[in-house]
This record gives sequence, structure tokens and C-alpha cells, in this order.
Amino acid sequence: MDILLKRLMEGGSLTREDWITLIADSTPETDQLLFEMARAVRHRHYGRDVYIRGLIEISNYCKNDCLYCGIRRSNPHAERYRMPESDILLCCETGYRLGFRTFVLQGGEDPYFTDDRVVSIVSAIKRSYPDCAVTLSLGEKEPESYARFREAGADRYLLRHETANRTHYARLHPPELSFTHRQDCLRTLKTLGYSVGAGFMVGSPGQTAECLADDMLFLQELKPQMVGIGPFLPHHDTPFAKEPAGSLELSLRMLALTRLLLPKVLLPATTALGSVDPTGRVRGILAGANVVMPNLSPEKNRGKYLLYDGKAAVGLEAAESLERLKQQMASAGYRVVVGRGDPAV
Ligand code: 5AD
Repeated sequence: MDILLKRLMEGGSLTREDWITLIADSTPETDQLLFEMARAVRHRHYGRDVYIRGLIEISNYCKNDCLYCGIRRSNPHAERYRMPESDILLCCETGYRLGFRTFVLQGGEDPYFTDDRVVSIVSAIKRSYPDCAVTLSLGEKEPESYARFREAGADRYLLRHETANRTHYARLHPPELSFTHRQDCLRTLKTLGYSVGAGFMVGSPGQTAECLADDMLFLQELKPQMVGIGPFLPHHDTPFAKEPAGSLELSLRMLALTRLLLPKVLLPATTALGSVDPTGRVRGILAGANVVMPNLSPEKNRGKYLLYDGKAAVGLEAAESLERLKQQMASAGYRVVVGRGDPAV
């Protein structure tokens, strides 16, 4: 274990078997060592800064039917909403005042948000806030659409690969969703000059250490600038309602391993991490994460963007509680900074 961690620290490449050992054979002691190493790498590139992103959940309509997700199209109980451009801009105004310099527009794959509409929104934000980064997280699109968004000024794109194991992908998604197409989208986004975010859930049904090893091999090959990792949490209106949640410990281990694999990666302590345990986000930071994404969505929509049960949407998750977030980070020895928070060079 120690030898593998050392090899990883030195930039050496690991085999699938090595990854399986790191993921499955850990003990509380090796985890402590791992978190220390991840923090050291994080401090080398980002010091004790924590970057914040204002998350705006623009629509919970979705044409997809992912088995784990509460806003899947076949959930008739989801109360659907979409935000008009004017409301999105109002969110940015609030966010800018609070000190956010990155806005993340996230939504289900909602056909209402045509390329023209997305281009119009991105252009408007960049016109009003030229010192801000715009991140899109709107799912799988054609290369031409990604190119148009980029021309309109979008800087970054989040599209979790969800799982890099083909068999596991088929267990989590309906047959019409293509494992290959999702990965192709990420490669296209990279070619277009986006900062790209991949990522996966931890502890989703059917996931094994082998699947997680495949995730690490995929990250090693894609070299994304950002990686979103959080525990799977069941949603009561999905086929996975009765499945157990992923563990905080394994999620933290995957965060730390990702920090060692991709030293300069932008790594959020995700909402799911903060939802599975009230201390989850701070522990994420202490395991090598360097980003948090407070929710900027209007209060009235916040309870509706429910990908899973128990989602933290109030308290520390709300942008208005930024002060409390700052205090929480400060007591762990970190500081929330105002800035775009681009990847270290
Ligand atoms: N539990 C945890 N994460 C989930 N996501 C979707 N549904 C769930 C769930 N039930 C994650 C997916 C998606 C991201 C926006 O949220 O990985 O890419």
C-alpha cells in the first residue's frame, strides 16, 4: 500500500490491480496517510485557498431516465420548473455581490434550452460579468452545440462520466444511453478548449472496486481539469429507492486518490458529500478537495432539484450562508477566496 502511494506521488503509473489494492485494501491508518499526502499535494498547488462556484440549477426537466436520478423523465412526482434567462441573470447578480466569480449553470437535458437559448444566456452573463467564468453542466450535446457555447464565452463544462466500466454503466442507465458517446463528449469538449470536469458516484448499485479502478484509469487517460466525486444517495421515486447509500469514507478515499493522480485538479467537496454527513464537506477539504459549490438557485426552486433524498439545500448549502461556510472552512484552517479559481498552471 505505502509503496503504491509513493509511486502515485512520484507520478508513476499504476495498473488496474494496483488501483484495486489502493481502493479495497485500505485501513483507517492507510487512509490517514493517504489524506495527509493528498493535503500536502493540494497545499503545494493551491495553498489553503478554497474556491467557490455559484451553482444555478436552471431546469429539472430531463429527457433521460437514469436509474439513480430523482429528476429522471419517468418520475411523475418531480415538480418540474425551468428558469427564464432573466431569473438566471438575477442569480448571477446576487452571486457577484456575494463574491462569486464562477457561475455553474446546471440542468437536466431539457429540450427547452435550445442552443440559441444557451448561447443567449452565456453571452449575457459574459457581457455583464467579463471577469467571471461560466461553467455549463447541461449534459450530452452535439459537437457543434458545444462549439457554439464555447464561442459564446463558456469556459468550462462539467459532464460526469458516471462510471468508466461498461457493464456498470449499463446497470445505471437505460439502453438508449451510450457509454461511448458520453466519453466522446468529454474528449470533444477538451478539443474545443474547455476546462473539462468528469466524475462519478461512489457506492452506486453494482459498483465494485474494479469499477472504481476503471474510473481512475479513465481519469489517468482523459486528464480532466476537474473531477466531481460524491456518494450515491437513493431517491425514493427511482428504481434504486431501496439501495444503500455510498459511504463517506470510500468517497473521501477516492477524492484523495484523485488528488494524488491529478495534482492540480479542481476537486469539489460536493453537495452529496455534505448531504451524507454534516461534516462531509470539511472532511472532503481535508482529503484534498479545494472547491465548494454553494447553491445560488432561487429559494422557490431549491427543494425541486432533487437528484437524491436528503439533499443539503439549506443551511451551509445556501449562498446566503456563505459566511457560515467561510467560518467552517476557517476553523479547518482554510480560506474561501474571491476569484475565478482557474486550474493552477
Ligand atoms: N446520488 C448521488 N449523486 C447523484 N447524481 C445524480 N443522481 C444522484 C444520486 N441519486 C449525480 C450524477 C450527476 C450529477 C449532477 O449528480 O453523478 O452527474
